[in-house]
Amino acid sequence: MQNPSTVVDKLYRPLHDLRVSVTDRCNFRCVYCMPKSVFNKDYKFLNRDEILSWDHIVDVVKAAAPLGVRKVRLTGGEPLIRNDLEELIDRIVSVDGITDISMTTNAALLTRKRAESLNQAGLKRINVSLDAMDDKTFRAMNDMNVDVSSVLTGIDNAVAAGIENVKVNMVVKKGLNDHSILPMAQHFHGTNQTLRFIEFMDVGNSNAWDLTDVVTSQQIADAINQELPIEPVEANYRGEVAKRWRYVDGGGEIGIISSVSDPFCGDCSRARLSATGSIYTCLFASEGHDLRSVLEKNDAQLLENHLKRIWQVREDRYSETRTQVVTLRPKVEMSFIGG
Ligand code: GTP
Ligand code: 5AD
Ligand code: SF4
Ligand code: SF4
Repeated sequence: MQNPSTVVDKLYRPLHDLRVSVTDRCNFRCVYCMPKSVFNKDYKFLNRDEILSWDHIVDVVKAAAPLGVRKVRLTGGEPLIRNDLEELIDRIVSVDGITDISMTTNAALLTRKRAESLNQAGLKRINVSLDAMDDKTFRAMNDMNVDVSSVLTGIDNAVAAGIENVKVNMVVKKGLNDHSILPMAQHFHGTNQTLRFIEFMDVGNSNAWDLTDVVTSQQIADAINQELPIEPVEANYRGEVAKRWRYVDGGGEIGIISSVSDPFCGDCSRARLSATGSIYTCLFASEGHDLRSVLEKNDAQLLENHLKRIWQVREDRYSETRTQVVTLRPKVEMSFIGG
């Protein structure tokens, strides 16, 4: 039974996850997320004073927990750019009701020392973006000359520091890195690190998305199955974004995230807090709900009621409707509200 104060939206979906963007900046320029043609020296990134303080983020987490939020994910841009993340993690971990805190990162800045301090603060799992196993392809994806070994070292540092739950996210874009599907599967096969393949999505307005660039989850599963036989596995929890598969030979699991070919809006329980303090109820939203004016009143109950109302009127299901509606409206950038 649900706790009486938990909230559901207009489509009866509970609020379970809060994804918190701590910066809109990133040390990568992934072509599917922050292409250099847009995110260059003329791009206006947020100023320090526009970014929500840790105090305010913790206030939002405290207001969200009684409404049903159990999981908090830190995202960016690239969260490791913020050098005082440990304090935020430490404070979120001790909020009543929060049972899981994780981070989405490209791991290039994840030194052993940093991984240890994050782990000590309470971070027990991370999802790392890595789009290829060879430097040429990976560099073409991140567009910053970052090589694969920087990310693999980051992953090793995380594991050595005790952050044992590491998943790897690979966005697949046709013609760019689809030849890396198998090498990635082979590399992570037999490790503890679950590799998840993500269909290239039409997030934001900058990545020149086209349906013909999408490699579908079925095509991804088929490609892997031919070399490394896989079978489907039950979801870990309701609303899990990735469809799980396991290697028949016992080599572990993979996941496939098919926002385009098989959308999962029906169970979407995620709210996103931008670095500026706005709540977005969908990854493809145009506008957020600004919380700053409420936060400044310093009234916890008011904030909780406000969040509750935002969720109660929510009816987003963009991925289920994208093929029926031509979307000309601007959408928020993924680097602004996180993955
Ligand atoms: P855990 O299962 O808790 O590890 O989280 P997760 O699977 O939600 O992890 P992660 O944040 O790594 O999500 C992986 C990717 O899935 C994101 O980077 C997005 O590309 C995609 N994704 C996550 N949530 C949504 C969502 O609500 N809608 C859509 N369309 N895509 C999403
Ligand atoms: N399509 C799919 N996933 C994306 N991400 C960013 N842009 C896209 C996109 N266009 C996700 C990736 C990355 C995370 C930070 O954001 O999963 O790992
Ligand atoms: Fe940075 Fe992640 Fe976007 Fe790549 S996908 S540019 S690593 S925020
Ligand atoms: Fe949730 Fe929007 Fe993604 Fe659908 S498209 S799963 S509603 S964030």
